[in-house]
Amino acid sequence: MKSLNKFIPYGKQSISEEDIENVISALKSPLITQGPLCQEFESKISKKIGSQYGVAVNSATSALHIACIALGLKKGDILWTSPISFVASANCALYCGAKIDFVDIDPNSGLMSIEKLKEKLSIAALNNKLPKIIIPVHLTGSSCNMEEIFKLSKKYNFKIIEDASHAIGGKYKAQYVGNCKYSSVCVFSFHPVKIITTGEGGFASTNDKIIFEKMVNLRSHGIIRNIKDFKYKSNGPWSYEQQELGFNYRLTELQAALGISQLKRLDNFVIKRNILFERYKKLIEDLPIKLLEIPNNVYSSVHLAVIRLDNKEKSFHKFIFEKMQSHNIGVQLHYQPIHLHPFYQNLNFKKNDFPNAELYSQNAISIPLYPDLTEEEQIFIVSILSKYLQQR
Ligand SMILES: Cc1ncc(COP(=O)(O)O)c(C=O)c1O
Repeated sequence: MKSLNKFIPYGKQSISEEDIENVISALKSPLITQGPLCQEFESKISKKIGSQYGVAVNSATSALHIACIALGLKKGDILWTSPISFVASANCALYCGAKIDFVDIDPNSGLMSIEKLKEKLSIAALNNKLPKIIIPVHLTGSSCNMEEIFKLSKKYNFKIIEDASHAIGGKYKAQYVGNCKYSSVCVFSFHPVKIITTGEGGFASTNDKIIFEKMVNLRSHGIIRNIKDFKYKSNGPWSYEQQELGFNYRLTELQAALGISQLKRLDNFVIKRNILFERYKKLIEDLPIKLLEIPNNVYSSVHLAVIRLDNKEKSFHKFIFEKMQSHNIGVQLHYQPIHLHPFYQNLNFKKNDFPNAELYSQNAISIPLYPDLTEEEQIFIVSILSKYLQQR
């Protein structure tokens, strides 16, 4: 089988003429850094997902960071997340001086295992080492079992930030991810491979006014401009006060214009992604591989299509990767377990700390999936896979 005469990436943005016109019109407006379009973007997303408040920022990494600070994470505290995620889900704890630990995954869904979480919490309670925050990661766009995690948060007194970087437009129990019914904050990413994009960008939703105001403040240097909130008496019309240590995590109007435009197609993007996923399912039916399972009660936004080899040999995983790449097919691994990166090994994590995550990463391959992927391309991708799976 020959290659199609082009590279097929594992994911990519879908930009329409209307998106381009909207960005050009923002570029011609008087204000091009954070302004009214950012506010419009925030209120449109919040309305869509059913949260009371939302803060648009320049990345999901920034959103995770300010969410952790707003929830009071500091030195001496502990944060737990999933080892199968992008490093940003864990790094946010370290930015705050807190300690990081992980909860192993469920091998079928790739999501944080509720059983492992229960076990780890009961041991941590005995040792007085309970986490202050847990970040469940909605890997590939499938929500974690939030109702169970929420129940545990009441029993063990921790707060929840959903890392829904992959999951805007997805649903849990028939309601949009991001409504924060079971969490304090929910974070989305608008990186180009994600469901909708602003080039780079992120968002934090919440139903708590105080957390919202803190995140708004942290997004822009910790500066307050409203005189009625000043700690000192205003000494002139130029006055503003820095009341805490914040950052420049602002989104520009150009990005917000793109985001507002993309948001109109959110549901369509997710429908298309689900159609592509179902087609893959049929095409691979007779092959010795499985797609990552989507749990009951979840409508996934299908950010990624992850197949798993039923294989224990690492060399075969590498072989399939290299063969797919040699046919111009952009495969990826989502993810290498976070605790195995050199930086995290230096924090004393070891091999075999999270065996399900490690086995998963030796067998997982993300194959291309994005709204503009064609049926012909899907058939080609599966035919190449099939060919090399037979060479085991
Ligand atoms: C699960 C997860 N969390 C966080 C991030 C960070 O997102 P961003 O690139 O918007 O900072 C990503 C990005 O890939 C991600 O996949």
